[in-house]
Order: sequence, then C-alpha cells, then structure tokens
Amino acid sequence: MQVQGKNYRTIWLDENNENVYIIDQRFLPHRFVIEEISTVDQMVVAIKDMHLRGAGLLGAAAGYGIFLAAKEAAPTGDFENVLNISAKRICEARPTAVNPEWAVKRQMQAISQANSIEEKIKTSFKTAELIADEDAECCRMIGRNGFSLLKQIAETKKGKTLNILTHCNAGWLAFVDYGSATAPIYEAFSEGIDLHVWVDETRPRNQGASLTAWELLNQQIPHTIITDNAGGYLMQQGMVDLVITGADRVTRQGDAANKIGTYLKALAAKDNNVPFYVALPSSTFDWNMRDGVKEIPIEQRDPAEIKFVSGLNDGEIKEVLITPADSAAANYGFDITPSRLINGLITERGICKANENDILNLFPEKMQPA
Ligand code: MRU
Repeated sequence: MQVQGKNYRTIWLDENNENVYIIDQRFLPHRFVIEEISTVDQMVVAIKDMHLRGAGLLGAAAGYGIFLAAKEAAPTGDFENVLNISAKRICEARPTAVNPEWAVKRQMQAISQANSIEEKIKTSFKTAELIADEDAECCRMIGRNGFSLLKQIAETKKGKTLNILTHCNAGWLAFVDYGSATAPIYEAFSEGIDLHVWVDETRPRNQGASLTAWELLNQQIPHTIITDNAGGYLMQQGMVDLVITGADRVTRQGDAANKIGTYLKALAAKDNNVPFYVALPSSTFDWNMRDGVKEIPIEQRDPAEIKFVSGLNDGEIKEVLITPADSAAANYGFDITPSRLINGLITERGICKANENDILNLFPEKMQPA
C-alpha cells in the first residue's frame, strides 16, 4: 500500500536477504519509523511489545523469525535443539492469534525435509518469503470477494453513501499488504463505490484511531473516528450498513476471536439487523478448535495500557496517566464473537456462513482436524 506516494509492505528483507525490516507501528500515526531486525531476540521483542502486530503480519514475522533462527542455529553444532527453542519463543510471544503457530509449524515441516544445514537455511528463507507473499495474495482475494458483498449492499442504498463500521485494525498494517477487513473497502473505493468508514477501537490501544485512521487517510478514504461505545447508537440510528472486522483466530464452527469489544459490536449489530462479517485468510482458522469461548486463549496485556494514554504533545510522543495510580486494571486483549452472531466469513476462497459445514465446503481438505 501507499505511504506518502511510496509503495510499502509491512515486512521485507534487505537486498542481500539477510535482515528483516518492519514498520514500527508504535510510532504511528505520528512518525513513520522503520526498524531493522537481525536476531531472534529482536524479533521476539518486536512481536511481544507490538512493534508489529495483527494476525497475518504476526504469521509473516514468525516465518521470518524462523529464517533468522535457522541462521543462528547453524554454527552452534546443535541445530535442531536451538531451532526448536527459538520456535517455541516465537510461538509463545503472542498467544491469541493462531497465525504465528501456523507459520512456525509450516516452517519446521519444510526445514525437516531439507538435508544439509545450508539447505535448511535456504528452505527457511524460501518458506518465509512464501508465507509473506501468500498472505498478501490471500488479502487481495479477500478484497475481491468482499467487494461483491459491498457492491450488493451499496446497490440497496439507491445513491446514498455506504457506511461501514470496522473495529480495531485489520488493515494492511495487520497483514503483509491490503488487510483483511479493509481489503474489500479499498477495492470498493477504487471501483468507485461511494463509501464512508466508521473507525473505532479507541481503547485499550487505539488501534482503530491510530492505525486504521492513518491507513484510510493515506488512501484518501472518507472515514470518521468514533469511541468504542458509539457503535450501538449509530446502528440504532440507521447510520451503519455493514460491520466488517478481522479475526485473530477462528474455530472450525466459525467462532471468532478479535480485539476486545468486537463481541459487543456483534451483539449491537444483531439487535439492529446490521450485517456483521468477519474477514480472514485461511491461515487464521484453527482447525483443531470448535468452541471458541471455551478454547481460544485470551491474552491479557500490561494494565499500563489502560492506565496510560500516549499521544503527541509539543511535537513529542508522551504518555500520561489517566487513572488513580494505585487502582488495579485488567487488560483483556481479545474477546470471542460466537458464530451465531456472524452473518458470514470473507476468505480468499469466497464468502461462507459461519458454521462448520459451510466453512468445510470452502476448505474440504480440512475435513479432518490437523
Ligand atoms: O495483534 P493485535 O493485538 O493488534 O491484534 C488485534 C487486532 O489487530 C485485531 O483483533 C484485528 O482485527 C485482527 S488482526 C487481523
């Protein structure tokens, strides 16, 4: 996607294919900072401390992390063991999104097929590149498939603006390119559909307000930032035609984990007959889980994210305390939207209903859990 007229992906290698580069998202929307990552330690910190984030990008970062891990393991004389320790650290850095686990498994499987250490490093490089390229391609297809849905709903508006609400950032910053929830929006906008986006997730991390708004602004897409609590009211007033969110993990039966607050949006959408869609690449399905509420691990993050807000003040990014210093705070990062509240899943293979049968019709090779 474009940043000030220049094309970027969210993760890439230098021209010698040695170091990994990312956009350090902690500084957006105020500063555009690129970070170089050349060790597994640095990659684990970047994942844990959210220099990069979002399901698809976490998967791609895990893929590149294993490439770095293979290079680090090579001179140790204990390749398998050192690689396994790094793989575990990368997987455990963020527990809710399934993509890192998926990418690491794919890497380990590919590496195990190669014979020499040199070949294993080459394989890990190729697999990392493949994972990143496929993520971008899946999102491009989600854009195409979601576009048909947006077009249909836009036609019912009879010339009035199509209003879409999205929660958090499932944009290109959360993937390698295009985004999941935003891909259909980008596609529809470029096809000339008159649309406007309500953007939220203003707490706990401001990812709608900081990241999605920044993305949409760069693409010149009309949008308005709202507080997390405003969505229900807007739906009651007929000001939302469709909700599209991303997902960090979706079970076989279609329950979706996404940024905290998504469930409440889905409840409000149901109550107001507003269609609620979840967009995801197939790497975000967890084929081994059914009941999302019972099974998906929910990450709790540092309470400081609730107690402090950060922003631009006098040209500097500063943090301020907004709660009593001694009050306890609990920072649940995600919630689960049960499949009954989801009208459909937008994937790279098409749109399906959020139930096991319909999901498996699109992905018949997953009939048996992995
Ligand atoms: O990695 P995070 O905590 O930023 O993930 C949360 C999200 O960005 C959202 O839940 C998003 O909608 C799903 S990631 C495509």
